[in-house]
Amino acid sequence: MLSYQHIYHAGNRADVQKHLWLITVLEYLLKKDKNFLWIDTHAGRGLYDLSSDEAQKIKEYESGIAQFWESMNEGDDLPPSIIKYRDLINALNTGESINTYPGSAFITAKMLRPKDKLYAHDLHKGEYPFLERSIGNYLCAEARFEDGFAALKSLIPHKTLKRGGVLIDPSYEIKADYAITANAIIQAHEKWPQGIYMVWYPILDKAYHHDLLEPLNALNLANEDFVIDEWHFGDVERGMKGTGIAIINPPFQAPESMAYVKKFLEQ
Ligand SMILES: C[S@@+](CC[C@H](N)C(=O)[O-])C[C@H]1O[C@@H](n2cnc3c(N)ncnc32)[C@H](O)[C@@H]1O
Repeated sequence: MLSYQHIYHAGNRADVQKHLWLITVLEYLLKKDKNFLWIDTHAGRGLYDLSSDEAQKIKEYESGIAQFWESMNEGDDLPPSIIKYRDLINALNTGESINTYPGSAFITAKMLRPKDKLYAHDLHKGEYPFLERSIGNYLCAEARFEDGFAALKSLIPHKTLKRGGVLIDPSYEIKADYAITANAIIQAHEKWPQGIYMVWYPILDKAYHHDLLEPLNALNLANEDFVIDEWHFGDVERGMKGTGIAIINPPFQAPESMAYVKKFLEQ
């Protein structure tokens, strides 16, 4: 029985990092005409209402997207992924503040072409109907009430789509989830070695994320084929100390693009 609901955390700094990486990677894939596959193993709702009671409880978006949004609407020299992210958000909101925040599945459904294919999974009975509603109208997208790890196993290697990747964004409800996630990625990488694998993790006091990163490091991939991006907050006494993304097979120059994005946000 799953208890985690992302609506309590939507738009926080981890989402900003994760969604900007997602946009950066998808933009590289979209540069080529050839269609591709994208798998979102832990998709969440698709769209999040930041004015809801749940989001208002901790207001994590205040130190996340709300903090960065203003600078994203100013200046001429914005990184392309920030422009895309801002435009996606602005198209969903008309007022002075952000009420509707796009999650990974919605961002992907919106960016992919009808010839590409998105499989988005969520196994939470309460969350899944939101997911279905938010991406159901996009020709490229298919929402599935399924275990994302089992689905990953069965979807790859795909019969026709050889390019593409996977976003793995688990809720890490128990410590064992870090090792389970690493194992799922290693098995998938064996079956589809050219796929892009992006996995998000929280940086906590207890550093559980080492259980995820150590097995991935042990794959001994070349430096350019395994990249880690961590944003350390420094201003949080308890809870999450930072947010991390590990990427296997990042597209050429995506890490450099994201380094520029990070610098822009730190200004
Ligand atoms: C961190 S949230 C996802 C947020 C989303 N990726 C985004 O960026 O908008 C994790 C989601 O995974 C779902 N979940 C947990 N275990 C799952 C599993 N085994 N298979 C599919 N979904 C799962 C939870 O219900 C939750 O909605």
